[in-house]
Amino acid sequence: MKICFATNNSKKIEEVTAALPPTIQLVSLKEINCTEEIPETTPTIEGNSEQKAMYVYQNYNTNCFADDTGLEIEALNGEPGVSSAMYADEMMGSYRDSTANMSLVLQNLNKQAQKGNSNRNAQFKTVFTLVLDGQKHQFEGIIKGKIIDVPLGKDGFGYDPIFVPNGYDKTFAQMSLSEKNKISHRAIATKKLIDFLNKLNKV
Ligand code: IMP
Repeated sequence: MKICFATNNSKKIEEVTAALPPTIQLVSLKEINCTEEIPETTPTIEGNSEQKAMYVYQNYNTNCFADDTGLEIEALNGEPGVSSAMYADEMMGSYRDSTANMSLVLQNLNKQAQKGNSNRNAQFKTVFTLVLDGQKHQFEGIIKGKIIDVPLGKDGFGYDPIFVPNGYDKTFAQMSLSEKNKISHRAIATKKLIDFLNKLNKV
């Protein structure tokens, strides 16, 4: 089957494509002539994921799914969470800049450490929303890990250089695509999506 993946993030497309069976072909936003920025204005990851998928379904009349992801850090009360993409924008005058976002996370964790809170536990959460023939279905993927002191690694994207998944001794950015794809939040959500489509005999 063909299905639109409602994202312009080439790294997300790369990860999801690598995890899909050849029977599922992704259609890009460009291919459906969707060139505008898709709104993501709700206060939750689930809400933004739904908003993006519904926007594409309603405006382009095509079955699709969207991904919204956040890094949730225990010592920061779940921040950056739904604000992960623009975490440092206000404080640092940046615009959706991963290096600035990671710096602000590390600064805020240092402040916590100075107050005696050295908890570095965090999780990535991805929520996929599939809109199939107008019906909405959500699939969640979570991976738990720790935030390290200094960014390490060049692969992956976003917050990958500061996140070490539990049970591993390297960051997501030090892993190959296939290593990250065995365990990641996005891989878990992708597997749930594939299983769902399989059950409907859509694959
Ligand atoms: P969004 O889901 O595209 O809104 O992404 C939110 C923020 O999380 C952006 O800053 C992304 O770079 C970051 N992000 C999304 N997925 C990942 C991931 O798999 N690893 C690291 N950072 C990610």
